[in-house]
Amino acid sequence: MTDAPAHRITGKTRIYGILADPIHHVKTPEVMAEVFARHGVDAVLIPFHVKPEGLATLVSGLKAMENFGGFIATVPHKPAMLGLCDGVTEEARNIGAVNCVRREADGRMVGTMLDGIGFVVALRTVTGFEPAGKRAYVAGAGGAACAIAFALADSGVSHLTIANRTIDKAEALVGRLRQAHPGLSLSTDAASVADHDLVVNGTSLGMKEADAPPLDFSRLSAGQVVADAIMDPVMTPLLKAAEAIGCRIQRGLPMLQCQIELMAKHMGAIA
Ligand SMILES: NC(=O)c1ccc[n+]([C@@H]2O[C@H](COP(=O)([O-])OP(=O)(O)OC[C@H]3O[C@@H](n4cnc5c(N)ncnc54)[C@H](OP(=O)(O)O)[C@@H]3O)[C@@H](O)[C@H]2O)c1
Repeated sequence: MTDAPAHRITGKTRIYGILADPIHHVKTPEVMAEVFARHGVDAVLIPFHVKPEGLATLVSGLKAMENFGGFIATVPHKPAMLGLCDGVTEEARNIGAVNCVRREADGRMVGTMLDGIGFVVALRTVTGFEPAGKRAYVAGAGGAACAIAFALADSGVSHLTIANRTIDKAEALVGRLRQAHPGLSLSTDAASVADHDLVVNGTSLGMKEADAPPLDFSRLSAGQVVADAIMDPVMTPLLKAAEAIGCRIQRGLPMLQCQIELMAKHMGAIA
């Protein structure tokens, strides 16, 4: 990321947003500013701090904002956005969450989910890891973890473990994955970390210093690729432990960078 000069906002500038709670950790405004600059688009993406109880009111208000092009939804709003959109892509419906919304000219909100595509593209380009035929462990069953799990399944992994604090959510995700990929080997065994080629943290554990570990670090080994969806801190406790063991690691930011142009396209900001 470079320190691009700030965009000059005028009456013609189109507005986009990112909705989150908390908001301070988001990286999308600066990453998207680079995309807008590269494409010569007169637009700005601004952070909107909204709590879950205010989400429906905000989205309803944004429908009336004529110079508003769309928004990115992140923690904790992705699952709730599914029900607040006027239309969603099949991918978003499968995953059960929305992370990018286009506001149509008539105010309709159309949602999609791009986290998983971003994760797999980053995995291939940053670590050189090809998921096809490999065994993958995903910690979490929220928006990011579901998207990563579906994208890994779509990429042809041979086995997928979904480990989550709320076991019902892990089992529900496994059920949806089984429907979409009937031949795929699936489990919810959280203790099986060692038995995988790829280990992913798709939970929010690791954002705060006091957080418990998202998985048992002592079961990692040097031959594994270890990825974290968390962007702040850049090096989570999981990534630090994995690097110390000798694993190839993937940080969270490339997952966003690899989907950012797709987000700009979905929101209609670039062709
Ligand atoms: N790099 C990127 O492009 C990118 C994209 C999307 C998200 N992310 C990051 O991914 C992380 C997760 O986001 P999300 O949208 O999936 O959030 P989410 O939908 O709210 O899901 C949170 C997940 O974390 C688990 N979790 C939260 N607190 C926990 C705790 N105290 N103990 C155990 N498990 C806990 C939840 O488990 P339960 O189901 O049991 O509550 C759930 O699986 C965030 O750090 C977000 O910033 C990064």
